[in-house]
Amino acid sequence: MEGFKIKSVKARQVFDSRANPTVEVDITLNDGTVGRGIVPSGASTGLFEAVELRDGEETFDGKGVSKAIHHVNEQLAPLLLDMDVRDQKAIDSRLIEIDGTPNKSRLGANAILGCSMAACWAGANYYKVPLYRYLGGSAANKLPVPMVQIIGGGAHADNAIDIQDFLVIPTSASTFSEGYEMVVNVYNAAKMIFKGAGKPVSIADEGGLWPTGFQSNEEGLKLLCESIELAGYTPGQDLGIALDIASSEFYDQERGTYRLELEKKTLTKEEMVGMLSDWVDKYPIISIEDGMSELDWEGNLLLTQKLGKKIQLVGDDLFTTNIERIRKGVEMKVDNAVLIKMNQIGTITETIETIEFTQNHGYLPVVSARSGETEDCTIVHLAIATNAGQLKVGSAARSERTAKWNEVLRIEEALGSSARYPSKGVFAAAGIQFNQY
Ligand code: PGA
Ligand code: ZN
Repeated sequence: MEGFKIKSVKARQVFDSRANPTVEVDITLNDGTVGRGIVPSGASTGLFEAVELRDGEETFDGKGVSKAIHHVNEQLAPLLLDMDVRDQKAIDSRLIEIDGTPNKSRLGANAILGCSMAACWAGANYYKVPLYRYLGGSAANKLPVPMVQIIGGGAHADNAIDIQDFLVIPTSASTFSEGYEMVVNVYNAAKMIFKGAGKPVSIADEGGLWPTGFQSNEEGLKLLCESIELAGYTPGQDLGIALDIASSEFYDQERGTYRLELEKKTLTKEEMVGMLSDWVDKYPIISIEDGMSELDWEGNLLLTQKLGKKIQLVGDDLFTTNIERIRKGVEMKVDNAVLIKMNQIGTITETIETIEFTQNHGYLPVVSARSGETEDCTIVHLAIATNAGQLKVGSAARSERTAKWNEVLRIEEALGSSARYPSKGVFAAAGIQFNQY
């Protein structure tokens, strides 16, 4: 009996960080090795993502996953039995083939991804090597630069402010742990500022501070600079600012306009580009994600023409980890970076192929968690396996977030002197010349 063959596949319901049900899959091999994957879930999901199958019935407000679980146990499991777990590509191809739709809508991307994740963990565990080593081989040694949320807004904070993520990226650190410590100090400084202003220190979906009582979106940028300074660093020198505008959430497709509810302002696409570009002039912003809507290619092009040489421009909802959409971006010269989310595309193999495609076309991959997360650390290993260079998992609080950051710290220790840390050099690959550096 060959130990590396799949003996059983079992899906069950577990819960994510927003108290929603999600799919967990265990794959057991003939030799008793087990691999487990737990599927994450977004809130500001892109229109072009692979389909997350939800029951749509009364239980859990329609968010049940019993159909997806049933699909794993009844339809996928029998066809995965006896497969060689070491051949991740063959497993993922079979999953795609059984589903048979372009967007995984028949069986659900959550059902499929759970199996794909569990299989790769089982493969790594079979060889008794860490997942990043199993997927990436001996050349996998680049630790990611962290992009960490300090304030959470948009759909992750009941739309208290329009902009979804106010984040920081350490730029003067020479190791991951040094960079991450800087971020933690900034997060705690931001908390002190909230307390000092009499604001409640409550936290949003990804662990960032809940923006109570903000008068404008720009207030978040000022607060980030103050927090960086209070923590003893220089904004723009030691840490840069990143924003995830998640603008698809407030785009009016019919009119082609953007609505900032907090400020009661409606902006044309030119005005939206103008506002973002003014912010880049005023604040040490080094990365903007989804500055324009997933439906607004023209706006995205305008933004890239304005800022694409100065800062990182990341497509999340615009690209949805989908090679065909990224290809269009490359051809149109829209954006210079791609947010990578496993469940936007639905298998590990496709996610790795998308990262490679991104790198081969001179765009920067940013491996990312979702707003609904669990203790699962697959994305950390994926980022290191592919030498992606950047990782975004929300804030420095809440254990579904710290599970990931702490895993990077452990891998840094394990890699020892073979670890590489690109720091701000990661941005050079896309030809970005920051104003400040
Ligand atoms: P989501 O948010 O997981 O709710 O889509 C994360 C992001 O927009 O980057
Ligand atoms: Zn995003």
